[in-house]
Amino acid sequence: MHFATSALAFVASAVAVKAATVTFWTLDDAQRTVHFTGNPGCAQIDPVTVNGEKNTTVEFPDRWVGNFYAVQDGQANTPGMLGEVNFSGWNGLTYFDVSAIVNPNDHDNVKQMWPKGSLNPMSGCDVFPCNNAYWLPDDVQTKTTNECDIITTLGSGSTGLSFAEQT
Ligand SMILES: *[C@@H]1O[C@H](CO)[C@@H](O)[C@H](O)[C@H]1NC(C)=O
Ligand SMILES: *[C@@H]1O[C@H](CO)[C@@H](O)[C@H](O)[C@H]1NC(C)=O
Repeated sequence: MHFATSALAFVASAVAVKAATVTFWTLDDAQRTVHFTGNPGCAQIDPVTVNGEKNTTVEFPDRWVGNFYAVQDGQANTPGMLGEVNFSGWNGLTYFDVSAIVNPNDHDNVKQMWPKGSLNPMSGCDVFPCNNAYWLPDDVQTKTTNECDIITTLGSGSTGLSFAEQT
């Protein structure tokens, strides 16, 4: 009996540790709403309102695949620069990239993404356009990491971080 209970508790905590997250870090004074679009079969995630007063961490269900975009207060809700994530990639890897496919002119919302722990690789641009984003359907700019926690910056401003040179 005791064994069964602790085995269950162990499974539960192992699952909790693996939860994937994206933390939104706003670099300017604007307030934005981040809208999420899950691929078919993935859970719907409610929009979140974010601003520079604090970083906002959103938890994703296991195996979530989809994208998100940010809309500034007072602007129309249309998809722009996308943050794409695949938390169920091959071998448990997380795939992610900043994609300009829908609206390459959205230069002031989703900016950069990187794994929280290693800061490498980084996708996106400090200032758009750059060649470290995903511009065309056959563009090979998807990044991978074995981490499950991704940071995403929004808006203009500098992170003050120096990233490894991206290849
Ligand atoms: C958000 O996170 C970044 C990176 O960890 C940190 O440098 C920054 O100070 C945080 N911003 C706030 C408002 O806490
Ligand atoms: C997520 O990654 C896995 C492993 O590479 C791949 O099979 C799957 O097609 C990806 N999902 C999407 C929507 O790209």
